[in-house]
Amino acid sequence: MYLSKKEEKMYAGEYGEPIRKAMEILVAIGDTYDAEHFIKIKKAHIAGLSYKTHGDAGLEYIKILNKENASVCIPTTLNVIGVDRFRWKKLGLPEDWARKQLQILKAYENMGCIGSCSCTPYYHGVLPTFGEHIAWAESSAVVFSNSIIGARDNREGGPSALSTALTGRTPFYGYHLEENRFGHYLINVDEKLEDVHDFGALGVYLGRLIGDKIPVFQGLEKSASLGSLVALGAGLASSGSIAMYHAVGLTPEAKTLEKAFGGKKPMETIDIGKKEMKNACQSLTSASDGDVEFVALGCPHCSLQQIKQIATLLSGKEVHKDVKLWVYTSIPIRALAEKLGYVGLIEKAGGTVTSDMCTVLGCPEKLKFKTMATNSGKMAFYAPASNKLDVWYGSTEECIDAAVKGRWEA
Ligand code: F3S
Repeated sequence: MYLSKKEEKMYAGEYGEPIRKAMEILVAIGDTYDAEHFIKIKKAHIAGLSYKTHGDAGLEYIKILNKENASVCIPTTLNVIGVDRFRWKKLGLPEDWARKQLQILKAYENMGCIGSCSCTPYYHGVLPTFGEHIAWAESSAVVFSNSIIGARDNREGGPSALSTALTGRTPFYGYHLEENRFGHYLINVDEKLEDVHDFGALGVYLGRLIGDKIPVFQGLEKSASLGSLVALGAGLASSGSIAMYHAVGLTPEAKTLEKAFGGKKPMETIDIGKKEMKNACQSLTSASDGDVEFVALGCPHCSLQQIKQIATLLSGKEVHKDVKLWVYTSIPIRALAEKLGYVGLIEKAGGTVTSDMCTVLGCPEKLKFKTMATNSGKMAFYAPASNKLDVWYGSTEECIDAAVKGRWEA
């Protein structure tokens, strides 16, 4: 890999040990993927902060970086952590776990990261521009930035995103290059998808089929909202390792089918109709007993509009006494929703609007929930293995109904 004079000095340790270690990681990645040089980056988003994934070894490593005075050199946002920093006691999350988690968060804040923890930083104003090269981790945010904005981002991991945050550089390969951004599979959607749960399920269904390839959707323009496109990307990135998709007429690099495929023919065409959608949704339900103790909404983190929808659905109702309803979002979106009265409506009905955290990367299993209802394809895909939860999968409306009745009756 070619290094500029400054990059050579960074690599040699002349700018300190944290930068040297970061360059070592980035050069190794660049060499692995045959990158010829670095590009400069102006935004990073670091994932992998949960104590569940960091563990004690990760916490020790990040503390060492603090001792070495590591500091980020570009605007750097953080992904979710495993607890809500303001409400973990109220939620009943274990103290030792929460304290370790908050130490991890503090260590990243000490390095200059923006301490609002969310997988949807784009909902509160952290938006790259079309064509901008970024280094975001968090697979759902990667798909969002590549597909919906047309920014250029590889599926960064926590260590690589942190290394870019420290150096302002990433190796120039993969989705940073125009030629790697064209579609492979044509997906004809001949069914009106109704809610985020349909889009999330379609994403998980296709991720299982096409691995890391780029799907090009035709037919989504009939029903897609921003939230549903986010859910689609999160689903694709969870069961597959997909980093971007195109939707003809909706996403910026797919003005036409020809543009989305770069003038080439699709490798294969997959038709999605009623039968495929039914299979996709049913495959995400793993529960059989109808009792529901936990309802989780907001994976990826809710937008203001989605919180408003939950508040409206709960209006005049009460969450069942044996059910916990947790809504996940970021600190800024929660603050807006509170000002607008949506948080008050949800909490008056017995739900809780959390910030910072999520189910999959948190520890709801420590609260011994057995059965969860959710509208998120990504959460339904991960929760059985990650959180030992049986899942009922359905629309936001069906999830609220389960929260009120304590049973899944859809
Ligand atoms: Fe976000 Fe956690 Fe879901 S990081 S996308 S809420 S698994």
